[in-house]
Amino acid sequence: MFEIFVYDTYEEVSQKAFEVMKKLVSEKPNAVLGLATGSSPVGLYKKMVEDHKNNGTSYADIVSYNLDEYIGLPVTHSQSYSTFMHENLFDAIDIKKGNVHLPSGVSSNLEKHAADYETELEQNPQDIQVLGVGSNGHIGFNEPGSSFDSVTHVVTLKHQTRLDNARFFATLEEVPTHAVTMGIQDIMRAKTILMVATSLKKADVVYGMIKGDISENVPASILQKHPHVIVVLDKAAASKL
Ligand code: F6R
Repeated sequence: MFEIFVYDTYEEVSQKAFEVMKKLVSEKPNAVLGLATGSSPVGLYKKMVEDHKNNGTSYADIVSYNLDEYIGLPVTHSQSYSTFMHENLFDAIDIKKGNVHLPSGVSSNLEKHAADYETELEQNPQDIQVLGVGSNGHIGFNEPGSSFDSVTHVVTLKHQTRLDNARFFATLEEVPTHAVTMGIQDIMRAKTILMVATSLKKADVVYGMIKGDISENVPASILQKHPHVIVVLDKAAASKL
């Protein structure tokens, strides 16, 4: 079931997403947050940081699990998702280091690491899962064609995804070819999903997610089966609905 909110600006989109997050964290100070990287949630994280500084909202008992990580980038790499999360959120709030979880992209046994991450997720279902959507319909790094039954696993990134993310690297060649990601089942386990999508580049995929056929070719379309998805859009992303 989708609850859809459409705003003029990214600022307003981020404010709405923040209000959803703040309500949860206030009502359940030990909530489990599933978090995403990418451009879409940057404004949300900025507002969480500001609110923590200005109003003292505490994350001391919050637990977080991130969706995904590139394979082959050490955590210290400027473009690792670990670095992204620490720079945009974790280092500026009072979440405990031990409560932060990201899949590792440099484990010597990636398959075992993915299985261990999966076990932890099953034991700690997300109260909320923040999501963006890829221009090809991916959620997490579950690319088109991923099984709806997938759990945490290693994926080969599609060319389109590497192109989309090349803006963060000096050259396309530097964009990792593989990642480890929560599976569709892990995302669907979240009690609430908070999807943020903006810009005209997302308009087709937002249509497919909400009104298209439910198909593994558009992984985000599985969200039509989730009981509670809050979708926060700008007008451009909502323009084909
Ligand atoms: C990020 C992630 C991806 C992004 C998606 C959209 O952890 O799993 O699915 O949410 O690629 O990225 P942006 O927000 O940069 O357009």
